[in-house]
Amino acid sequence: MSNSNILTKADVLKYLKTENLDIFVFESVTSTNKILKEMALSNAKEGTVIIALSQTDGHGRYDRKFYSDFGGIYLSVLLRPKLLNFDTTLLTSAVAVAVSNAIDEVAKRSTKIKWVNDILLDNKKVCGILCEGGFCGDDGFFVMGIGINACPTVNGLDDQIKNIATTLFDTYSPDILATLCARVIDNLFYEYSHLKSREFLTTYRQKSAVLGKKITVLSRGEIIGKATALEIDDDCRLLVEFENGEKKKLISDEISIKIAN
Ligand code: BTN
Repeated sequence: MSNSNILTKADVLKYLKTENLDIFVFESVTSTNKILKEMALSNAKEGTVIIALSQTDGHGRYDRKFYSDFGGIYLSVLLRPKLLNFDTTLLTSAVAVAVSNAIDEVAKRSTKIKWVNDILLDNKKVCGILCEGGFCGDDGFFVMGIGINACPTVNGLDDQIKNIATTLFDTYSPDILATLCARVIDNLFYEYSHLKSREFLTTYRQKSAVLGKKITVLSRGEIIGKATALEIDDDCRLLVEFENGEKKKLISDEISIKIAN
């Protein structure tokens, strides 16, 4: 561990098992996803990882602002899958399992996954995952962006998210951040290399915060109905039953859900 109170690349490498990655650690960036997408277009290799200690323009699904103050972990990983018709929902869900397991292992907590890719601790969001794709010539790439509310930030959580978000640890520690970053990256590459077997689905279902729950279904932020979450199928679609008895398989691209209290 370095003497500095700031997380460094050397700290992360100390705990990391995955080899041949290109890792960059910055104190502050606009958005790790944005930077990594630009690097992907300039031929950065699979396994390029950007870690930032804060972001000035962190974003989530539907371009929502992602609160990214010093204290959290903001991390993006570049993947260049060889398969045609690569399924982004499966990839994102597998990454959710990787991150949820990493958090549980390091923080000794028991997190849940809210379909499709939010990680909850005590029913509050502790991590968001954003998968963004692009093309470099004919070849597709994916940037997996992971934002974890790890340690308390100087000013505490933003008023707007205080009631729905939480942090993992009570005090700031670069050593904890390094351990968590390394575990997230190791688990992510494990799940990525086992994606075809879909073995992650068992854990994804076990950790589900939504199965059996009453939910509100939204399409691009607009409520489209209330339903009960019944099942997650092998393609990670969520089978729900609306109040009028209609059953539907939800696909994550357009749809988000809220869990009723
Ligand atoms: C969401 O909650 O909708 C997803 C949030 C994803 C946030 C992460 S933080 C690292 C990466 N950089 C970004 O700008 N977004 C992702």
